[in-house]
This record gives sequence, structure tokens and C-alpha cells, in this order.
Amino acid sequence: MATIAVIMAMRAEAGPLIDELGAARYGLNPSLPTQVFVAERSGDTIVIGVNGVDPEHQVDLVGTEPAVLTTMQVIEHWQPDVVITAGTAGGWSRSAAQIGDVFVAWPHVVRHDRRIGIEGFRDYGIGRHRVWTHSEELAHHLDARKGVVTTSNSLDESDTDREWILALDGEVKEMEGAAVAWVCGLRGTPFVGIKTITDLVDHPTPTAEQFLANLTTASTRLSEVLPMAIQWCAERVNAASY
Ligand code: ADE
Repeated sequence: MATIAVIMAMRAEAGPLIDELGAARYGLNPSLPTQVFVAERSGDTIVIGVNGVDPEHQVDLVGTEPAVLTTMQVIEHWQPDVVITAGTAGGWSRSAAQIGDVFVAWPHVVRHDRRIGIEGFRDYGIGRHRVWTHSEELAHHLDARKGVVTTSNSLDESDTDREWILALDGEVKEMEGAAVAWVCGLRGTPFVGIKTITDLVDHPTPTAEQFLANLTTASTRLSEVLPMAIQWCAERVNAASY
């Protein structure tokens, strides 16, 4: 039977999914902030890794470093068949995104803020991590949009970010996807990205204001769509292993 892992950054994003699945807390490594929840569904195992809370600042551990820590631990302990990076993200009115829209990462995730103008390092900085080949079908199944997810460690978009995002065809802006994908790539684990839109980056209202106003709506939308996505991925894995 399949093991599907979902990696999330914020407790507010993960809470509705944990409740929906009735997932129970799993004590993995008490010396690290990572929080893990496990549920069983029709014989499949669902592992939800949440980055946890920063011990110094008491806020959710958003960003790439905590995402690597969570993904690495979950992969080491459970060897999941598929890893899904799930959470909220920014979109753009220029690509007709709306608050609450669901996007599946396709065909890759990139980084727009690791700009290293040295031969060879440039492509490493961008990353361009491929997603699971079945992601396109998954998007269709979920009636979701597909697009390039672009990762950085900033909520805002600088002028240079804007140029890079346009050049990279970014449609979804968030803070963990490429980091999760990088670890998956090292371990050969299929990677899927599912993001719901909390804010429009090109809207006059400040991003942080939009984000806080729409976080609950977008997280609820995630908890509606993720169980369907998890089940679909598990069925795919189970069908392939017969
Ligand atoms: N998460 C939600 N909205 C975001 C944005 N605009 N940029 C980065 N991460 C986000």
C-alpha cells in the first residue's frame, strides 16, 4: 500500500487537513521543531510534516531551510512513494489568478532569488526541479490550474524578483516548493506541488494584508482538495505496483 507525505509550513495551513484526516501526532525527533501527524486511509499511510515553530521568535517556520529539514526527516523515516508540498501562495491578475484558486506545479518548480552569475552556478541557483510526471493528470482530476511554481525566502516581490519571475514564467509564488523538490530529487522521490492562492502579487493592496485576510479561506480550500489529491496519488502508486 502507498505512503504519501504532505509537507506544509504553517500550522494554519495544516490544521484543517489534520482535522479532516483525523491524523494523530507522531513523536519523531523532540530536539527539532518539526511536527509530524500520521493517518491511515484504506490501508494507505498519510504523513503530514509541518515545519513547526521557531524557538526564538515563536512564529511558524516558513522558508526553505525548515522545508528541507522537514522533508529530509519524513523521507528518511517513511520512504514515501510521493511527496506533496502543499500550502498557500501568491498569484498574479496578469495570469487571471483569483483568491482561492488551486494550482498544481507543472512542469517544474524554480527559485527566483538565488541569482548566481557564474558559469554553472546560474542553473543550480534556479533549480528547475521536475515534478512527478502524473501531475498534469492530477491537475485535471482536481479541476485545478497548472503552472510554474517559483520559490524564494521573501513574501514581497522586488523589482529584480519581478524580472526573474517573468523570465522564468512563474505563475505561483511561495517559499518552500523548490527546497522540498530539491530533497526529493536527491532521494529519487516523486514530487508534487499543490498551492492555493491567498494574494495577488500585482494587486495594489499589500501582499501581507491580503495574505492574512485570505489565509483561512485558502487553507480550508487546501483541506478540501488535498484528501482528493492524496487518494489519487495513492491509487496511482498502488496501480503501478501490481
Ligand atoms: N505565500 C502566500 N503568498 C505568498 C507570496 N506572495 N509570496 C511568497 N509566499 C507566499
